Amino acid sequence: MAAIEVHETIDGFRATLDRARASGATVGFVPTMGYLHDGHVSLMRAAKGANDLAVASIFVNPLQFAADEDLSTYPRDLERDLDLSAAAGVTHVLHPSVEEMYPTPILTTVTVADITRRFEGASRPEHFAGVATVVAKLFSMVGPCRAYFGEKDFQQLAVVTRMAADLSMPVEVVGCPIVREPDGLAMSSRNVYLSPEQRAAAPVLHRALTEVVAAAEAGEDDVAVLRARLVDLVAGEEEAALDYAEVVDASTLEPAVDLAGPRRVLVAAHFGRTRLLDNMGISAPGV
Ligand code: PAF
Repeated sequence: MAAIEVHETIDGFRATLDRARASGATVGFVPTMGYLHDGHVSLMRAAKGANDLAVASIFVNPLQFAADEDLSTYPRDLERDLDLSAAAGVTHVLHPSVEEMYPTPILTTVTVADITRRFEGASRPEHFAGVATVVAKLFSMVGPCRAYFGEKDFQQLAVVTRMAADLSMPVEVVGCPIVREPDGLAMSSRNVYLSPEQRAAAPVLHRALTEVVAAAEAGEDDVAVLRARLVDLVAGEEEAALDYAEVVDASTLEPAVDLAGPRRVLVAAHFGRTRLLDNMGISAPGV
């Protein structure tokens, strides 16, 4: 296992990657907020597999948390994160302080219109400006690279992909499949917040998605019927309070009226104070 270098300064991290690229290396980048799980590790392995150098960032970004959210209690374990990163082939990690990332109150932010309006954007109005801004900063620190994001945060993946394209960033955004627990629950750093009862109930999201996608793939093409089934299945679990359930166009994230084109089924629900997201693509005939 190669040794891992932890960079606390942006300049040091940027200079290392500039040198690597100058000697011909390609860079794969995995941005994270730490408390890594197998989903992050799969992104790191993908970065390592397709590039000469796999690098990551670990930074809990205050800009993407609302005042009543879990910024101060967000789980952290740097030593374990570095071990997992090194084992996955990552050799350089940017781990800046908040002061290093935001030395002065930030006046410049990045907002992505339209695709941020619904779903996570409706529940968490400041969230995507915070994500887009920090990811734009990270992309400017890393420089030309492939950047790996999980499909679990499907809307985030769409937002970052669009931002990189709209702003002509020298970054290829790569979406990677959701990694799940054996019972289907999508891996998330926030799963540790669940009580035993909530944890036992949480796989309902995956079960509901699986059933609705199977119905679509078996020929049910009425989007309203599919959506109603998804709502009913989640409502049947008393620990879950549905936030949203929708079949969307996979590129615009607008609610779909038919299945003519790539579609994604999105769902989010509260389990106590913890909000969990999940999603699944439909490969219906003709899609
Ligand atoms: O998905 C995350 O962990 C964060 O939103 C990201 C992309 C690292 C930005 O802070």
